[in-house]
This record gives sequence, structure tokens and C-alpha cells, in this order.
Amino acid sequence: MDLARQAPVEGLAPDADSGFWRRDFLLGAATAAYQIEGAVHEDGRIPSIWDSFSHTPGKVLNADTGDVACDHYHRWEADFELLSELGVDAYRLSIAWPRVMDEKGRPNPKGLDFYKRLLDRLAGKGLQRFVTLYHWDLPQYIEDRGGWLNRDCAYRFAEYAELMSRELGGRVTAWTTLNEPWCSAALGYGLGMHAPGKRDWHLALQAMHHLLMGHGLAIQAMRPHDPAAKYGIVANVGRGTPNSDSPADRRAAELFEAQHNAWVLDPLLKARYPEALAELLPGARPLVLEGDLATIATPMDYLGINYYFRTNVESDGAHGFREVPLPDVERTQMGWEVHPDGLRDLLIGFARDYANLPPIYITENGMASDDKVVDGVVDDAQRIRFLRRHFNAVSAAMKAGVDVRGYFVWSLMDNFEWAYGYERRFGLFHVDYATQTRTAKNSAKALKAFIAERRERS
Ligand code: FCB
Repeated sequence: MDLARQAPVEGLAPDADSGFWRRDFLLGAATAAYQIEGAVHEDGRIPSIWDSFSHTPGKVLNADTGDVACDHYHRWEADFELLSELGVDAYRLSIAWPRVMDEKGRPNPKGLDFYKRLLDRLAGKGLQRFVTLYHWDLPQYIEDRGGWLNRDCAYRFAEYAELMSRELGGRVTAWTTLNEPWCSAALGYGLGMHAPGKRDWHLALQAMHHLLMGHGLAIQAMRPHDPAAKYGIVANVGRGTPNSDSPADRRAAELFEAQHNAWVLDPLLKARYPEALAELLPGARPLVLEGDLATIATPMDYLGINYYFRTNVESDGAHGFREVPLPDVERTQMGWEVHPDGLRDLLIGFARDYANLPPIYITENGMASDDKVVDGVVDDAQRIRFLRRHFNAVSAAMKAGVDVRGYFVWSLMDNFEWAYGYERRFGLFHVDYATQTRTAKNSAKALKAFIAERRERS
């Protein structure tokens, strides 16, 4: 193989004064169970809402499912060598609830052993373990009882969380209760794009309330069993910019951000829902019982932030906003606009708006491209540029005083991208799904080179 051709065209190193150079700034890669594991019928795993959804015709592009995915359930040891190759400090993974508890709520020892082996191997490699409890794979039998629309779901989630803290306590650096409750509520219940595929914003409000309740109850249930670990949640955040200077468009952008960010962050950090929600959905309020908001605002040790793109909006002439895609901007394979400044501005805004903002980890950031292996090389120059620009955007927020402690690339490898199936490739490593061959993209090599240089300098 021609080694010269293998060298990345561009580096990934951020600006010289970036906080990313600090040895104690955590650099990692992220994945989630349903997107990579496969082996959906093995060792007592029970069905989840994503098994049902992906097997429902018309829900996922090309009728793809997570049945096999990256076959990580069988290939995890080799996949962890990819982490060693990169030299990252940390790995973010998720536990599949349907693997570790049966339909009677009893522990499944085989599923638990799988995650114990994973976590022990990661610790053996000196990697910090960021473990998400809920990355969208709700057991189907709980959905059959109403899922997140049923208040009881929050209590079932806390039971599961407590079991994990008893079984896996001491093996986890940082627990994440929920990944992106906005997506679970808005895409799952409001827009029908994700499991369980419902389309009613009133339901989304109620589902969000129960998700956030589950988060607070889980932290309370877990801390006594695993007091040394850190506890937090991961929120996807959206940057909304007004299409014009008109007051109506400016208000539309505010409403966009309230719907994406404050809907989740206000209850967590201010123990209240934003007024703007009522403006967007006149008359609609979730059923909130006394004490619920205090439960939701249970103190956390960190906040995970996932950021991908910005949305340019205008007023819809009534109470809301609609997207006006900007022409001539750089986009990714998802059609998402590349806009690193949005991440900087959001982080600075959160630090201003929330006096009690906990330390932040960027728990996901990355991009999809239509990557191909040519002579053993995957030339993903756009991803290298994307990552470097976002490193610099986060660094700018840090310079402005925001306490950011780490950054995880989404994703370690190409995987099942939910409603888009396998077509959209977010990985640092390319996956050939026919052979399950992993190939380092140029971005993986560039990240490795940056990490090695950082180590040399410290
Ligand atoms: C986030 C999800 C993650 C991945 C990225 C692209 O919303 O948390 O699983 O699909 O988007």
C-alpha cells in the first residue's frame, strides 16, 4: 500500500491556545447500543421499541434494522482496539435496557456480564467510561403499557437505573441517565420520526415530563450505590437564527431555541417549564404533580451537550417558526448546515442564563458523509475540517469562561443512524456492513496524530 497516500491531507489540531491541548481535557468517541450491537435475539435480550419501529415498513430508509448493525456484540474486543489505536482518553457507550432486565423486571445475568466485560476491558485500557442508561431503546413491553406517556415508566426507569448502579457501580466514571430527551419526546411523540412513532405535541409534552422525572428519580436511586461516579444527562441543543431583522422573525428564533433547549434545560436547572412552550402550543400543559419539578431538578455533576447544526427560521405568521434553509452554505450528508459558531454561542448563552450550570462535556459532535474506501483509504477531508472548526468553537467558549471538560466525537464507527439506517456514515472508522471490515478514515488518523502530539507536548 502506498503510505504517502494514507497521510491525511489536513491536520485536526486546534489553534495553539486551545484548551483542547490541555492533557486533562478529555477526548473521546461515542456510540450507542442499538446503533452498533446487533445480536438482538441473543442471551435473553427482549424486544425494544426500536426493534418494532425499524421492522415497521416505511419507518426506516431502505427498511434497515439494527438486527445485525456493526455486530459489536460479537466484535467488541476488536472494536476496542480501535479506541486504543486512536489513543482517546474516554469512551461513551450505552447500555441496552432490554438486555439487562427481563419482562418481569428481573436482572438478566448474561446481559449484565456483557457490560461488565466491556467496562472492565475499558478500565484495563485506562479509558474513562461514560455510560448512558437510555439511548432510546425502551423495552417494548413497557411501551405496551403506555411507555413514556405512562407516569409509571419513570419509576420503572429508576428501578433499572438502581439495578445498574448496584451491579456496575465502581466500573463507571460518569453515568448519563437519558440521551437527548428532546429527541425521545419531539421525534418519538410529536413528529413520529422515531419510535414509538406518535404524532401529537400534547403527547410529546407529557412524555418529556415523564422522561425528566425518570432522570431525577434515577439519580436519587443510584447515588447511594455508586457514590464515587458522576451523574448527568445529555441534551441535544439547537441554534436558531432569524431569517430577517424583523421582530417577528427574531421572536421565531427565540421560540425555536426555547422549544429545543429551554424545554429541557429549564426544568432541569430552574425547576420550571419555559413560558414560551405555552406560546407555541396554546393551552397545552403537561400534567405536573406537586414535587415533580423538584425531582427533575435533582442536582447533577455535569451536563452533556450534543450539537450538530443550526436552523435558520422565520415567523410562521402565528405562534411559531418555520425553517428557511439558507442557500450556499456548507452542508453534510444529512443536509445539516455546518455552523461551528452556533455551538460557541449556545455554550456562552447557557453559562449566562443558568447560574447553576454544571461543568459541561460535549458528548456528541460530528458529521455524516458518503464515505467510500478507495485503495484502502477513506478521504473524509470535510470531517477533519468540521472537527477542527468545532474544537476551536468550543475552545472559544472556554476562553469566554464556560467550564467545558471534554469532547466526544460522534461516532467511533459508522452505524445504524436511526430513521436513516446505514446510508448516513458518521464514523471515524468506516464499516463495510457486508464483511464487517473496519477501515480508519483519514479523520481517525488525524485525530490520532493530534492526540499523540498532545501527549508529547505535556
Ligand atoms: C444524535 C443521537 C445519536 C446519533 C447522532 C447523529 O441525535 O444521539 O445516536 O444518531 O444524533
